[in-house]
Amino acid sequence: STHSCTARAHSNIALIKYWGKRDDRLKLPAVGSISITLDALYSDTRVSFFPGAAQDSVDIGGRKTDPAPFTAFLDLVRARAGIDYRARVESWNNFPTGAGLASSASGFAALALAATRAAGLDLDARELSILARQGSGSAARSLFGGFVEMHRGTRDDGSDAFAEPMLDAAEWPLDIVVAITDRAPKTVNSSTGMSGLADRSDYYNAWVSHADGDLDAMRESIAARDFETVGALAEMSCLKLHGLMMSTRPGLIYWNPATVAAMQAVRALRSDGVPVYFTIDAGPQVKAICPPEHTATVEQALAGVPGVLDTRRSALGPAAYVLD
Ligand code: DP6
Repeated sequence: STHSCTARAHSNIALIKYWGKRDDRLKLPAVGSISITLDALYSDTRVSFFPGAAQDSVDIGGRKTDPAPFTAFLDLVRARAGIDYRARVESWNNFPTGAGLASSASGFAALALAATRAAGLDLDARELSILARQGSGSAARSLFGGFVEMHRGTRDDGSDAFAEPMLDAAEWPLDIVVAITDRAPKTVNSSTGMSGLADRSDYYNAWVSHADGDLDAMRESIAARDFETVGALAEMSCLKLHGLMMSTRPGLIYWNPATVAAMQAVRALRSDGVPVYFTIDAGPQVKAICPPEHTATVEQALAGVPGVLDTRRSALGPAAYVLD
């Protein structure tokens, strides 16, 4: 029916990281970010609006979930469409939820697309990105494929804080190997980890003031298809982010021994001449980036690192799309 829609969005991994908000309610980022969208990790989300239902219901991976954070998001869609129907939301991730594999990014991007279509809205890509951002900052990027830039924006209403595609996946094929070092959901989610950062970190101003330079350098090296510089900038952005996390009161440590061993394995591969760099988000998994001809070597090396439970490989993926 016209009141129902299913959409798929892929997860993404930032090469230049977002951390910190300039506004909590609108989820306005304190810094811009640049990401790649992953083909192998995605969320499928079905939204059906029902006249007469008393409240929203949300299932993730077949399990009932507290609808509160989704109701706040769906209210934005309802207000825009001028409807007050409650929704049934069913979402599936083809990867573990809440373990630092960006489920909120793909989940809210798929929800933004499915919910607006189910409500009879046809938003353009920028409007969808602005909407998805209000679910989760990184979700604004998962609407697009390939290389994506999220703009920090300066306006208070968030109308200039959206993501945009930079390069399609096919324009520069790269692979990601994810080394899974812990399957448990993380104990401190991103929103909590970055809340009130300015007051809790002595390094916050340094983090924010270097962001534009890092974004400029990354944009330039992507345009030049300079893999070594892209990789080095991504690895440094990751290390700066984790230095910031660790030095925030209370100190936030997402790494376990296998995380560190995998980082060192990536650097050992590099000493042997393999072009590969790592990045890590708000969790213990290590994501290695390399040109596709080196993926098998990288995956084999990471699979052999003590404490690495599993590996997953992915190419760059497409923009979000409607499934039915
Ligand atoms: C470390 O987008 O999950 O993955 O906006 O509060 O939902 P909220 O946070 P979220 O943060 C992502 C942080 C990161 C870096 C990144 O993806 O840029």
